[in-house]
Formats: sequence, C-alpha cells, structure tokens
Amino acid sequence: MWKKFLYKNEKNEGKAALDNLDKALLPVHVAVIMDGNGRWAKKRGLPRTAGHKKGVDALREIVKAASAIDIKYLTVYAFSTENWKRPITEVDFLMKLFSYYLDSEIEEMNKNNVRLKVVGYVEKLSENLQKQVHNAEDRTVENTGLTLNVAVNYGGRDEIVMAVRKIAQMAAVGKVDASAVDEQMVDNNLYTAYQPPVDLLIRTGGDMRISNFLLWQCAYAELWFTEKNWPDFQPDDFAAAVQSYQTRDRRFGGLSK
Ligand code: IPE
Ligand code: IPE
Ligand code: MG
Repeated sequence: MWKKFLYKNEKNEGKAALDNLDKALLPVHVAVIMDGNGRWAKKRGLPRTAGHKKGVDALREIVKAASAIDIKYLTVYAFSTENWKRPITEVDFLMKLFSYYLDSEIEEMNKNNVRLKVVGYVEKLSENLQKQVHNAEDRTVENTGLTLNVAVNYGGRDEIVMAVRKIAQMAAVGKVDASAVDEQMVDNNLYTAYQPPVDLLIRTGGDMRISNFLLWQCAYAELWFTEKNWPDFQPDDFAAAVQSYQTRDRRFGGLSK
C-alpha cells in the first residue's frame, strides 16, 4: 500500500491500477502532451473551449494521482510556442484558463505538497499573468513532494536556443571558457535546470509525435501513446502508462542487465 495514498474518486476508479504498480521501478520524471481537447469537444458538438475546460479537470486528477504514488517530477504541455498560430479567441481563452488555474489550484497543491513551476518563455505572457506565475510559484516553493512543471509558451527548440544564448553571454564576458561547455552546462541552463531527464513521455489524442516538447530532456524517454483524448484521460490510464514503462528494457545504448 502507498503510505501517502490519497487518490479516490466516487467510483474509486484508478485506485487498483495505481496500487498495483511496482514501487521500486517508478519513473522519476513523467512528461505529458495533453492533446485532443478540441476533438473531445467536437465529438460532443461543443466548442473547443469546452474541451480545454474539461482538460483542466483531467489535469487536476492526474496531478493528485502522480503525487499520491510519489512521482517526483511531472511536466505537462499546456501551450506551445506554436500554439500562437491558433485563432486569437482560442489563444485568449487558453490564457484566461491558465490564469484561472493559477488562482484556483494552489490551495490543493499545497494540500498535496506539490511544488509548481512554469517552464517556457514566460516573458511573452501578459504582465499580469507573469505576476500570477511568480506568485503561484512562490506560494508553493516550500513544498517537497511532486514538482509540477506546467509548460506554457514552451518550445523545445526555443529552450535550447535560450540556453545557448545564456552560455554565449557568459562566454562573452569571460565567465566560461568554450571548452568548458558540456552537456551538464547546457542542461543547467534549460527551463528545467537541475531536474532529472524524462523517463516516460505520455501523449494522448492519438498522434505519435513530439511536437517540440522537451527535446533535450526526452533523449532517452520511454514513449507511450493513447487514442484517448486528454479530457478522458484518468488515473487508471496514467497507471497503465507507468505499468507499460515498468516492462521496458532501458538499455541506454548498452546491453540488457
Ligand atoms: C491540446 O488540445 C491543448 C492545447 C494544445 C492547448 P488541442 O487543442 O490541441 O486539441 P486537438 O488536438 O485540436 O483535438
Ligand atoms: C501539442 O499539441 C501542444 C500541447 C498539448 C500544448 P498540438 O495540438 O499543438 O500539437 P500538433 O499541432 O498536433 O503537433
Ligand atoms: Mg492538438
């Protein structure tokens, strides 16, 4: 039994599957491409925005579940650097939803010992939203359980460019030598600085692509895809992904143990 097991919904779904996982073989860092909100809504004759709203409910349950089974890092893709291409009304709605999320979820995060971090080029967001981001991060900074990275205006290529820029700036003023640039230094200058690499990458919505998510951090991630749209994704699906992860032979270029 999980000592800190708190997860429960009315039907008690997900509990069994989460309980059955091998505690010794948990992924440390799980990343999720929360895709399919629009298709979820379309299937039901609803506006795309309804799918995004329902997606927040799904996220709440997955954060609870991940934290209950002692996952240390969970990174979720909420808005990509490419998502600005969408109609302004949808972009506005997503920003408002993010703002609402930052206000409404912090109490629950504190209850579950979750530390929130926003990863991405935050400076492009509105001043108000930036303030909210920093405030939400500050309010959860003492929490020592799950670190929840919410990726907003996040792009994997952008992240690497930003890291290169920071290192180049340090080199320009003589703070680092070009020959000292190594993988660790690049890693330490990413939005996810000082966090471990992704062990398991989940994508919902049926598409099998990375869409510019955590390109560096996923170098050796195990991939898991589902046809389910994000608003339908539940803790038992999360458990299924982790269960699959636990059967993988991770060789990292070497040979099986
Ligand atoms: C994922 O759902 C959420 C965001 C990208 C913000 P989509 O909005 O991409 O939903 P589909 O893929 O169109 O169904
Ligand atoms: C990826 O989904 C981004 C997020 C889930 C936030 P997209 O819907 O933007 O990805 P593509 O366009 O299908 O690659
Ligand atoms: Mg999509």
